[in-house]
Amino acid sequence: MGGAPIRWAIRCSNGRGGVPERESGRCPNRGLIPRGRSRRRHPERTVPGGSGMIGSVELIGRRPQLAVLGEAVQGAQAGYPQFVAVGGAAGIGKTFLLEHFAENLAAAGARVVRGAGIELGSQGLALVPVRAMVRDLVRQVGRERVAELAPDAAALAPLLPRTGGPQPDDRGGPARLFDALTALVERLGQERTVLLAVDDLHWADRSTLDLLRYLVRTLRDSRVVTAAAYRSDDIGPDHPLVGFLAELGRLPGAHRIDLPPLGRAETAGLIGALAPERFSERRVDEVFRRTGGNTLAVRELAAEDVLPPSLADLVLRRVRRLDDRVRELVRLAALSAAPVSHDLIAAVAGLDEAELIAGLRTAVDARLLVPSGDSYAFAHALLREAVRDDLLPAQARRYHRRYARALQSDPSLVAPERRASEAAHHWYGAGDLEQALPALLEAADAAERLNARAEQARLLERALRIAEHDRPALLRRAVEAAAWAGEDVLALDLIERALAEGAPGTPGEEAMLLALRALTLLNLRRGGAAAAAEEALGRLEGVPAAEQAPVLDLAGAVFMADCRWERARDIGEQALRLAADNGDAALAANARITLGTALTRIGDRAVGLSVLHSVREECAERGDTIGSARARVNLAIVEVSLGRYEAAVGTAEAGLESCRAAGLERTLGALLTAVLATALNAMGRYARVEEAAALALRKDPASGFAGVLLALSGEAALRRGDLPTARERCSLARPLVGGEAAPPVYALPYLRVEAEVALAENRPEDARRIVVQGLDRAARAGNEADAWPLLPVAARAAVREGDASLRERVRATAGGLRRDTPPWAAFAAECAAELGDARWSAAAAAWKAVADPYREAYATMRTAQEEGRGKDRGGVPALLRSAAATARDLGAAALLQEIEVLARGAHVVLEHEAPAAKTPAERLGLTAREAEVLRLVAEGSSNRRIAAELFISVKTASVHVSRILGKLGAATRGEAAATAHRLGLFEP
Ligand SMILES: Nc1ncnc2c1ncn2[C@@H]1O[C@H](COP(=O)(O)OP(=O)(O)O)[C@@H](O)[C@H]1O
Ligand SMILES: [Mg+2]
Repeated sequence: MGGAPIRWAIRCSNGRGGVPERESGRCPNRGLIPRGRSRRRHPERTVPGGSGMIGSVELIGRRPQLAVLGEAVQGAQAGYPQFVAVGGAAGIGKTFLLEHFAENLAAAGARVVRGAGIELGSQGLALVPVRAMVRDLVRQVGRERVAELAPDAAALAPLLPRTGGPQPDDRGGPARLFDALTALVERLGQERTVLLAVDDLHWADRSTLDLLRYLVRTLRDSRVVTAAAYRSDDIGPDHPLVGFLAELGRLPGAHRIDLPPLGRAETAGLIGALAPERFSERRVDEVFRRTGGNTLAVRELAAEDVLPPSLADLVLRRVRRLDDRVRELVRLAALSAAPVSHDLIAAVAGLDEAELIAGLRTAVDARLLVPSGDSYAFAHALLREAVRDDLLPAQARRYHRRYARALQSDPSLVAPERRASEAAHHWYGAGDLEQALPALLEAADAAERLNARAEQARLLERALRIAEHDRPALLRRAVEAAAWAGEDVLALDLIERALAEGAPGTPGEEAMLLALRALTLLNLRRGGAAAAAEEALGRLEGVPAAEQAPVLDLAGAVFMADCRWERARDIGEQALRLAADNGDAALAANARITLGTALTRIGDRAVGLSVLHSVREECAERGDTIGSARARVNLAIVEVSLGRYEAAVGTAEAGLESCRAAGLERTLGALLTAVLATALNAMGRYARVEEAAALALRKDPASGFAGVLLALSGEAALRRGDLPTARERCSLARPLVGGEAAPPVYALPYLRVEAEVALAENRPEDARRIVVQGLDRAARAGNEADAWPLLPVAARAAVREGDASLRERVRATAGGLRRDTPPWAAFAAECAAELGDARWSAAAAAWKAVADPYREAYATMRTAQEEGRGKDRGGVPALLRSAAATARDLGAAALLQEIEVLARGAHVVLEHEAPAAKTPAERLGLTAREAEVLRLVAEGSSNRRIAAELFISVKTASVHVSRILGKLGAATRGEAAATAHRLGLFEP
């Protein structure tokens, strides 16, 4: 489908002698934001109390690393001193992690002592971090206390701030100092858990390293964790830290953390937190690509487009240290779009082989370049960008021209599939627009042949910046490519430009652009998609039938996605008629999919289903992978709403195959994965859900889809009883599903899971707020599939909050939804049971009929609870045992625990359990005192209040609380309180 041969003219009218803008560092349509413009600052005071908030930003990700640190604390608390080395690149988040951990530990009652290396430390100032730690300790406990604790306080005097007191006694040299300090730390660690937090250890002098080495090796029987952060990209093989880390690494209590960059989803989360107003999928793409997930860089670029000078300087320091020849090689490499092959850089560098190899060797040793296969890549993208931006424009143009010429004379220097786009990149960079335009178009065609639609769209967009003639056709091609690639922001931008430039030559083309605008608005979760579709339909008068059909088809799809079933059916019918008249089989198939799906919702379901089945077969016969994929998506959605989960899984998996073949993984594939995950969650196959969602997320789908996928895998985690993971996925999903205008398809699954997490964490007020947002969207007829799952959760929140009007609202919403499929009927039954309008046994039976084991087990447990309150309790043991067996099979840890606690309360032996104890508290395994403490925790009391109430020390209160958490298997006080409430432990 390459463009027809067209004469292109060159436009050199940007006032800069025709020099095109460089590839990034600015948004294509926003112009260049000048360097040095004041950046918004994010205040970064640490908030005491360890709520996980630092300044305005929560710690993102880092769970595995916190687990290692937590392990070290446990080891220390068992009496074995621990050492944790936290390594990572500059700006990756070492300080933040250490500080977050320190705050939490301090809030839990540990003593945290901080020190840090400073950059000049190795040039004279000895023991800087150690001095800082001693001073910090003096600040915390006072000089006298330090003197009391240290058996040889005089030896420490050189480390202390000067006072008018006696002269320091430094007889005995370093050994005496080391011993005195070790003894001091040991004493501290016998009082309570101690964290020695040493930051920037790479700048520490040798004495500091010697002292720490001595300390870590000599400490005995005390609860001390030494955690040291260092910059791993700054230490060469000869750095003293290398030997130090190797030696300490061999000790029994040693741990090592290599802090990785943020992943894409985490990057998205950070951007969402810092600059929600600029959040978009495209922006996440761009920031992630540029920063490679370096946390500092993500932070800096979250709200800005230009690399701030401070960050560039940080990155460039290492480049500037190199000698001229090596620096030139690195700069050349920075201009290559992809990792540069040895032959290519040899061709452009103009060095002899020995010089070249020596230079590359140096760059690799300095960890600037990384060899991979026969090529060299930058250690991270930011580095490449900083080096490139550091070039003078004339220098960059010259280098680009060298590349372009080299490729011209020997095209074999790059792989065939990259040839066209590399040539385009360099001609464009060289400012040679006469060569660049045809090269860009050729590269765009090549990208299209490879189904690399995103690349195609980017190349065309760049061509549009310099093309003067035949722009309409070019714009339409670019729109098409961007829409195909799921690059909705770019697509929408191109569409607006095309409409503004009068690109649509004919009314048919204009209607098509408007229909595409409706589709991208829908994908971008901006409002107005249905209105835009109507606008497109309004332009159809006088348009030839052949051109009307695709517009009708797109509009029908938009109505369908927006749950406007009647409109979708009517438009689908019209589209089908026209497509059939024109003999356009692919379009007819599309129209039948819209029609069939609409019929399953508002007409004869059996007819609708058979239409979908037959389209799927017909598409397969025609080899129409896109049609097959679309048919399967809609079929799978219908199967899920009918509770035919096995069938839905089969359909969705086959559909995913088609998506892969058609290059539609980011769009239809993501939607299919969401449907698949919904079915798998219902079946209790949580691991599969998380796996499928992770796979789909790696393909980088559009935001709305990504949000839903995160929410659904959060739901899987929640079912497994992994509350922290569920919470984390919800907070990542939050910015992705969009704000106020988020359509129900994206918003509802997320809101439901978020509300469930809030309930599980005993935040009923939050749950209430969240379900209200959901009810606003659920009230619309037509989206039963997304609305029903929210309602029982909403009912639970209303009951927990004792909110009568919310209860009424849930009742009314449920009353307005159809319940004519087995799962919808079961949701209705569960909702009624939650509201106290029906028996739980009915809900359990309904879920059994659907074969949704988790919901069945939950309803069964609630049935047991209900019967346990009645007179005839004979059925309770069997109910609890059956619920427990299901929960166990599913690995639904939280539910199982709830059932077990309930069973203990009801004197029911589930399996392999000791006979029931006497009092409810004993049955939970709690002592009488712990039961009292739990009652206070459930009332929301702090340790201080508990202590006051029970006449115990705060410390003892906190010990009780942690024991209780352990016994209930709860991670937080909130969870323990939630368990207590759920079990009605303290009800009169
Ligand atoms: N996990 C994280 N979540 C959110 N922000 C983070 C995280 N890690 C680091 N940051 C932010 O990134 C920036 C760089 O982190 P920092 O800890 O100073 O890096 P390093 O000490 O590794 O050089 C800081 O502004 C910090 O607030
Ligand atoms: Mg730091």
